[in-house]
Amino acid sequence: MRLRALADTPSAFGSTFAEENERPEEWWRERAELASRAVDRVTFVADDGTGLRGLATGFHETPTHEHVHLFSMWVEPAARRAGVARGLVAAVCEWARGLGAHAVRLDVTVTNDAAIRLYESCGFVPTGRTAPLPHTPALLEQEMERAL
Ligand SMILES: CC(C)(COP(=O)(O)OP(=O)(O)OC[C@H]1O[C@@H](n2cnc3c(N)ncnc32)[C@H](O)[C@@H]1OP(=O)(O)O)[C@@H](O)C(=O)NCCC(=O)NCCS
Repeated sequence: MRLRALADTPSAFGSTFAEENERPEEWWRERAELASRAVDRVTFVADDGTGLRGLATGFHETPTHEHVHLFSMWVEPAARRAGVARGLVAAVCEWARGLGAHAVRLDVTVTNDAAIRLYESCGFVPTGRTAPLPHTPALLEQEMERAL
């Protein structure tokens, strides 16, 4: 699903399909296995009973960080505008709250209106920080934050 996400919306993510498609099956298995045991990260998937429709990851950089980072948000095109992403945001926020974090932060490309509307509707506001998208520096990402 991660590769589908990167192929579907290249400008929404810091990494690229070309980069991640090089990784062997073993790498993906190890990543999933490690993540399933880790306490500092979590990936939620949306499953409608017939298949996986979306995903979002939360990452708590260190136990002393007051915020959790949300990234890798993606919902497959046929499942959009049905509240899937809103549910994934809620799941990451709930997980972050459980860790004792005070806020959830994310970076979103400034031209990604759908994602910006989504995050605004979930209570995120811009922090004012921006940075170039690593693989396309002409595009800026803006940081948004929601207090928990
Ligand atoms: C952005 C994305 C995750 C939204 O997923 P989704 O499941 O369709 O979003 P939801 O149905 O939960 O939408 C929740 C709210 O977000 C806003 N929203 C979502 N998509 C929107 C769109 N295309 N245009 C305007 N507002 C939108 C709306 O306020 C919506 O509420 P409403 O449907 O009641 O009006 C999805 O379009 C996607 O995967 N895009 C490509 C990847 C991407 O951009 N990821 C974000 C990386 S930061």
